[in-house]
Amino acid sequence: MKTIEVKTGKPYNIYIERGIISQTGKYVRNITGAIRAVIVSDSNVAPIYAERVENSLKENGFETSLFVFEAGEERKRLSTIEQMYMHFYEHNVTRTDIVVALGGGVTGDMAGFAAASYLRGIEFVQIPTSLLSQVDSSVGGKTGVDLPSGKNLVGAFWQPSVVLIDPDTLDTLPKKFFSDGMGEVIKYGCIRSSELFKRLETENAADIIEDIIYECVSIKRDVVEQDERDTGERAILNFGHTFGHAIEKLGGYNSITHGEAVGIGALMLTRITEEKGITTNNTAQRIYRLLDKYGMALSTDFSLKEIVKATRGDKKSSGKHINFIFLKEIGKCFIQKINIEEMPEFFGV
Ligand SMILES: NC(=O)c1ccc[n+]([C@@H]2O[C@H](COP(=O)([O-])OP(=O)(O)OC[C@H]3O[C@@H](n4cnc5c(N)ncnc54)[C@H](O)[C@@H]3O)[C@@H](O)[C@H]2O)c1
Repeated sequence: MKTIEVKTGKPYNIYIERGIISQTGKYVRNITGAIRAVIVSDSNVAPIYAERVENSLKENGFETSLFVFEAGEERKRLSTIEQMYMHFYEHNVTRTDIVVALGGGVTGDMAGFAAASYLRGIEFVQIPTSLLSQVDSSVGGKTGVDLPSGKNLVGAFWQPSVVLIDPDTLDTLPKKFFSDGMGEVIKYGCIRSSELFKRLETENAADIIEDIIYECVSIKRDVVEQDERDTGERAILNFGHTFGHAIEKLGGYNSITHGEAVGIGALMLTRITEEKGITTNNTAQRIYRLLDKYGMALSTDFSLKEIVKATRGDKKSSGKHINFIFLKEIGKCFIQKINIEEMPEFFGV
């Protein structure tokens, strides 16, 4: 088993082990005296994994209940949160009880937000089951929902009490979502670990998935410990995301997955910074080859001009500037503020 300690305002541990979800009750019992545990899951994940988690919680003395919502980003809204609150209320959840998020990033973000706000805050546990949630979204305490006007516009910082990562759950994850998570994995290699990037180039990710999860979560832990509230350094986790969000937005959020959009965003940006002499030669080509190796999209029909125009509405912009993350080389990055007015000139569009 691999263990990672996170020293945020509220410290917690992340455990990575095959089969760990069957021991959920033991780990949750170690961190709480709660009577009730509410499992929150979606309609794809619950039928496969909820029983195992529920049995383990019961064996460790918890009264359990299960709240299931229809899978998909479209359900990541306040109306689902309200249904969750009602479920908590009907099952007599008190401030000392606990919420168990079992599923991908959508489940974790919503269950975390409901936990952050119900009765002004109760504890929650993350059991991420998609690659994206195992390497990224289950760690760091960002929780929330979408509004019709944009993604993740409402939310709270609320750290989990423990994170249980079971790589075996990836066996049932549809291939499309595995590639989606690979977008984030490649991002971590680009921004902080040339070693990880090299391993992705020379080995097969699926064969070394536990090491990959451990590496990515360790990087995210380091960044989040430095900047828990996302006011500085944490922006580096957005490498590829500014163009990526624009590509997703232009495609109406259903023509390309998030991870693939991030991959293309990283590639396009690095081609430009390489041409400008900011990034070491051959970096974009290495990113291209890695995206290709893992079967990810390599280009978009939208022009750079359209993408640059769409980034102006990105929520990561602060006032007159947008924070771009540039690579110096694989494994080394920095934050570059670009004035929104000067973007067309900078990108030559
Ligand atoms: N909080 C953060 O820091 C953070 C970071 C990155 C992304 N996010 C959020 O994460 C969300 C995306 O996460 P996601 O890609 O995990 O989406 P998701 O939760 O919708 O999961 C993707 C799909 O895979 C299915 N699934 C998940 N695990 C499975 C398994 N083991 N077996 C079979 N099916 C499985 C889900 O039902 C869903 O259909 C977005 O809403 C994004 O905003 C949050």
